[in-house]
Amino acid sequence: MVCRYEEDLKVMIEKVRKYTGSGNVADYIPALSKANPHDVAVAIFDGSDTCFSEGEYRKLFTLQSISKVLTLALALMDYGEEVVFNKVGMEPTGDPFNSIAKLESHIPSKPLNPMINAGALAVSSLIKGGTNEEKLARLLQFVRELSGNEKINFNKEVAKSEFETADLNRSLAYFMKQHHVLSGDVDELLDFYTKQCAIEVDCEDLAKIGYALAHHGEHPNDSYSIIPTEIARLVKTFMVTCGMYNASGEFAIRVGIPAKSGVSGGIVGAVPCGIGIGIYGPALDEKGNSVAGMKLLELLSTQYHLSIF
Ligand code: DON
Repeated sequence: MVCRYEEDLKVMIEKVRKYTGSGNVADYIPALSKANPHDVAVAIFDGSDTCFSEGEYRKLFTLQSISKVLTLALALMDYGEEVVFNKVGMEPTGDPFNSIAKLESHIPSKPLNPMINAGALAVSSLIKGGTNEEKLARLLQFVRELSGNEKINFNKEVAKSEFETADLNRSLAYFMKQHHVLSGDVDELLDFYTKQCAIEVDCEDLAKIGYALAHHGEHPNDSYSIIPTEIARLVKTFMVTCGMYNASGEFAIRVGIPAKSGVSGGIVGAVPCGIGIGIYGPALDEKGNSVAGMKLLELLSTQYHLSIF
């Protein structure tokens, strides 16, 4: 259904580059502030031999909150729905991604969904493995399989930078520990969580991850199942309802593609007709989503009729 990617993507990148000037690179994780705010890139993978890519698509960036989609899938595969949704809910919050407000006002005190930081911390606490090294090795293997890229690893500098400054996430975790949503050592959990967020990819890796999700959890090159179909469906539903945080409603209207953003400027999109999209644009709006990336997805959705609605 989509054919002239190369020319179209070039035009779209040039159209949206001007929006990079109206956003800011995240600096609450100091290492992320080194990104070039004017970068913008896209990759599309539709199962053919190659990705269609434009802009600074070879740049590496960290998954940040995009990792929440993958840990959710892994935890569901490890434990099933009952255990996971006993710890974390299914409702959008309408609050910023790192808000503590609803943990206190909502009874019982469990995070409302797995895409906000509190929910993601609760999910990460479930990942199986005797040590953080084992947990991370499992997660990395999962990401390598989903992207078909064996070289994927985590960025030590970004992980350390976030670990040293993650006091808000620590407070969320301590709050949940007090209310028995979590158990165990909070700094151990933060060590794993910050490494999970620091897993490093490029746009083409993201496009392949998006493609695997769009294809009901199948490997991007060798159509065998990595994520069971029902879990892929659950994860994509969270991407629609909570993937862009408190911008998810507007994003559903303007774009209508299951997607998940991260504060590094990455966005993964999984279009049910079988297209994976990887976006990079580190200049963010006030809600933590890539400004140029959102515009680019809007253009793609309009041009190729990709909205699921
Ligand atoms: O926990 C954090 O704050 C970051 N590691 C991830 C947040 C994030 O990516 C929010 N995204 N838009």
